[in-house]
Amino acid sequence: MTDHSAPTDAPTAPGHAAAPDPLAPTDAPTAPGHAAAPDPLAPTDAPAAPGHAATPDPLSPTEAPATADPLAPTDAPNAPAAPDSLAVRGLAYAYPDGYQALFGVDLTVGRGERVALLGPNGAGKTTLVLHLNGILTGGAGTVTVAGLPVAKQHLAEIRRRVGIVFQDPDDQLFMPTVREDVAFGPAAAGLRGADLDAVVRRALERVGMAEFADRPPHHLSFGQRRRVAVATVLATEPEILVLDEPSSNLDPASRRELADVLRSLDVTVLMVTHDLPYALELCPRSVILSDGVIAADGRTQDVLSDPELMRRHRLELPYGFDPRSVTPAAQA
Ligand SMILES: Nc1ncnc2c1ncn2[C@@H]1O[C@H](COP(=O)(O)OP(=O)(O)OP(=O)(O)O)[C@@H](O)[C@H]1O
Ligand SMILES: [Mg+2]
Repeated sequence: MTDHSAPTDAPTAPGHAAAPDPLAPTDAPTAPGHAAAPDPLAPTDAPAAPGHAATPDPLSPTEAPATADPLAPTDAPNAPAAPDSLAVRGLAYAYPDGYQALFGVDLTVGRGERVALLGPNGAGKTTLVLHLNGILTGGAGTVTVAGLPVAKQHLAEIRRRVGIVFQDPDDQLFMPTVREDVAFGPAAAGLRGADLDAVVRRALERVGMAEFADRPPHHLSFGQRRRVAVATVLATEPEILVLDEPSSNLDPASRRELADVLRSLDVTVLMVTHDLPYALELCPRSVILSDGVIAADGRTQDVLSDPELMRRHRLELPYGFDPRSVTPAAQA
């Protein structure tokens, strides 16, 4: 495990454009959470990040530990290496009010990996997530998704590839009915008729919400809305699934069912969570983000079994939970 907790001389973000609030409610059916939707929020003056190439930077540090990942593709000899699913380099960001939330984040996630992003309240986790499909832009550094830079000219494709389940489901659901919310992404991608109906039904079934298809989202409970929010993203079949605290407010059975769904998907997963047993269950690798920098990166079991590291970053296991007594995700 790499412990980056030592003081860093992380760069500060340069002045940035006054980006619109990504979470401000919009009344247009083009919310940022929906794949392939035109982007009402992308700052029009966001410069293309310098130094981007369509391939990952061969010189960039590969800090990812060699976790035994059952989902990683087994490379055929001489096969060209697939680009990493996600490459974040030197990402620094200050909000328009000047509050600096990220101070030079570097993070690489390989194809098929499931990685937990841990860290205390206010660490910058959601801020990082909002950079992964270009909802937030304008700071320093670069984000590359499967070799494609997150830049204004690629946003439609980036949002097809990266599905984000937001921390607050109300940022994701805005249509009159659950069915229309779940249909939004695949319809924007061109699906119609019976095919679209089948995709919507399947996504709702996966989160146990099929019987709520004709209800208005705002009539549902918070946990039900979160399940629908997950369905809106599953329906788009993204290559990378980013979930911001997916298990919060789920009842235990829904939490387990979501774990089953995530395990069944052949996608890269980055999961922000305060639910440390969930991280251990699902993610062989964990990264701690703390005060806007990556503080540690390693096997989830090692991270959770390091009391000093945990204490330093305000992470606490549930009472009586022993991470050493559980079969971690990598071996499940
Ligand atoms: N729109 C905003 N304007 C100014 N500062 C903000 C804004 N949104 C978040 N921040 C600040 O940025 C920091 C990082 O916030 P962020 O939401 O990324 O934290 P987080 O790690 O996701 O926390 P949590 O675990 O509570 O969800 C916090 O100090 C927060 O107060
Ligand atoms: Mg958050």
